[in-house]
Amino acid sequence: MQRSCRICKAPDLPAGKSIKFVYKVDGINIEGFAANFRGNLVAYENTCRHLPIPLDYEDNQFFTPDGEHLICQTHGAVYHPLSGHCLAGPCAGARLNKLHAVEIEGEIWVNLPRHSESSST
Ligand code: FES
Repeated sequence: MQRSCRICKAPDLPAGKSIKFVYKVDGINIEGFAANFRGNLVAYENTCRHLPIPLDYEDNQFFTPDGEHLICQTHGAVYHPLSGHCLAGPCAGARLNKLHAVEIEGEIWVNLPRHSESSST
């Protein structure tokens, strides 16, 4: 059965913004983030593909200053916001673990992986 996690109201995630959330897989907390890239909703596990650490410095900053890409703040890996594909950096060619974000009746939801459950946001 597919589980979903309510993230926020749609107006709380305008273009260029992101929001983090936590879900559990087999009892282990996993952090994810949803982002609005030019009106396109995306969501990923908040784990760099270079080293298993968060992309942000706990400050919810996932976009490059120009808003064109997602970036890992540790070593600068740059990811395409829509595909999660690493375009440059130490893990070039890898992809972020993608989650499925949708807007339903003015709210943002993320479909979680199997065997997961929503936790706190
Ligand atoms: S940990 Fe993300 S680029 Fe090195």
